[in-house]
Amino acid sequence: MCRGFGIVCEAHKKVLEPCRGATKEFIKMKVENPFNELYLKHFDIVEGRTIYLSRHGESEYNLEDRIGGDSNLTARGQQYAKALGLYMNSSGIADLKVWTSNLVRTQQTAAYVSAPKEAYAEIDEINAGQFDGYTYEEVEAMYPQEFEARAQDKLCYRYPKGESYIDCCKRILPILEKMERSTEHLLIVAHQAILRCIVTYLLQGDLRKLPTTKIPQHCLIRVTWLNGENIIDYIRTPIDHSEQGIVKSVLEDSAVLPPKGASSEKIGDSQTKS
Ligand code: G3H
Repeated sequence: MCRGFGIVCEAHKKVLEPCRGATKEFIKMKVENPFNELYLKHFDIVEGRTIYLSRHGESEYNLEDRIGGDSNLTARGQQYAKALGLYMNSSGIADLKVWTSNLVRTQQTAAYVSAPKEAYAEIDEINAGQFDGYTYEEVEAMYPQEFEARAQDKLCYRYPKGESYIDCCKRILPILEKMERSTEHLLIVAHQAILRCIVTYLLQGDLRKLPTTKIPQHCLIRVTWLNGENIIDYIRTPIDHSEQGIVKSVLEDSAVLPPKGASSEKIGDSQTKS
């Protein structure tokens, strides 16, 4: 069966480019990097500037593997919130500001950090539109074409009545600019999809790898500006969590789809579960 660009067509084993019958939506288009406009601004960043990034702690929706929503943290999520507060409060960071999304789970996660907080809808999680509140399994069972379309092009796939990763990149541009111009130390508590966008921007990463970039839960990411580039490191906590969302993207560099029925976890970049 013809699948689209870069994918082996079962009927024409050697065809590695769009073949007749390839479903149009599955053809990966060359995408302009939405961050280019910011890269061109060449911000004057102070040596040693540090930005801390964190996903919210485990939420009730994470436990059920549900997309979106506005659920509370679980007990383990609360534990992470306390650990985050303890770490940030004892780090002696002067002039720390905390930015959260408008959603309950990020605000609960930041609750124990003693610093001024601001909430921004721009860093709310990707809008899953019609599928908000569904599990990935439900989407796969009830809307297999949508599920497959996302697996084929997770970067550009837009949820019905919702957003794509590219939409998210564009949505956060004002926040990224504010972040670059900020003279305060920042802790940004947000969501997996949004942090994938922020990390990719900060590291000038490959846009195609953005939707599968690993952003572990219950782990603080520190990004430090040194010698003209951002250096990333992770401060991990031992607090357990149930990762949310199985990523079933087709491997970017591969021309082969996983065998039918085989789990497509581990394909994509390094990410298996979100
Ligand atoms: O929808 C919420 C997730 O954090 C994003 O996961 O884009 O890998 O499905 P996903």
